[in-house]
Amino acid sequence: PTILGRGRDLAGRRVVISAGGTREPLDPVRYIGNNSSGRMGIALARAARLRGAEVTLVLAHTEEDAPSGVGIERVASTADLDAAMARMAPGADIVVMAVAAADFAAREPAGAKIKKDGSGTLTLDLVETTDVLAHLGRERVGSRPVLVGFAAETPRCAEELIALGRTKLERKGADLLVVNDVGDGRIFGQPDTSISILGPDGVIAEGQGSKERCAHVVLDAAARVPAR
Ligand code: CTP
Ligand code: CA
Repeated sequence: PTILGRGRDLAGRRVVISAGGTREPLDPVRYIGNNSSGRMGIALARAARLRGAEVTLVLAHTEEDAPSGVGIERVASTADLDAAMARMAPGADIVVMAVAAADFAAREPAGAKIKKDGSGTLTLDLVETTDVLAHLGRERVGSRPVLVGFAAETPRCAEELIALGRTKLERKGADLLVVNDVGDGRIFGQPDTSISILGPDGVIAEGQGSKERCAHVVLDAAARVPAR
């Protein structure tokens, strides 16, 4: 069957997708997490599989069901994600980082439950987690895998979007950055989305509608990235 006219154009390609939200423990019962539903990454995994790719989904926290027909690697923290991606990426043709990775983790998670001390405040000592995508960008040998990042932003205009995308792409060493506007509670947890795909020279594609439809647009763009 053809999938929105694309057929099995990714047959023989190995695609690794990360999805969901990582969590950083504070103590045995608490964590730092985020609102990512995991739907965009799961839609990407399904879309890539429908197009014939061999797909691995590196899956952080999500309440969605894992799709069938793809390899699943569960991860909890950003450090777990980093280890899993370092293992999977070298054999991949395309890596898409749709995961919402927690940016900060406890310097030292408490071994026992943190108790209220009566002061009325709590100060946490947090450190930045590894930037997994930047790590993949640095370790990449040659032009594979094609590296695609996601950025949830609230740009005020097209110029700001492009400036932001350029900086982030460069910082991460990625080929493409999929930007979506998450202002006013849009997109997170919603079935529909609206994306702009940035390359080094600006916007190369746009998508709107279901996450499934947008997933195909992202895969189209990734499949077209030329070897460097
Ligand atoms: N990302 C990552 N590791 C992190 C944080 C982010 O791999 N520790 C990846 C995300 O999966 C995404 C891309 O980097 O594909 C951009 O994430 P974003 O949160 O927009 O970028 P940050 O570098 O964390 O910058 P910001 O301060 O804007 O959150
Ligand atoms: Ca971040």
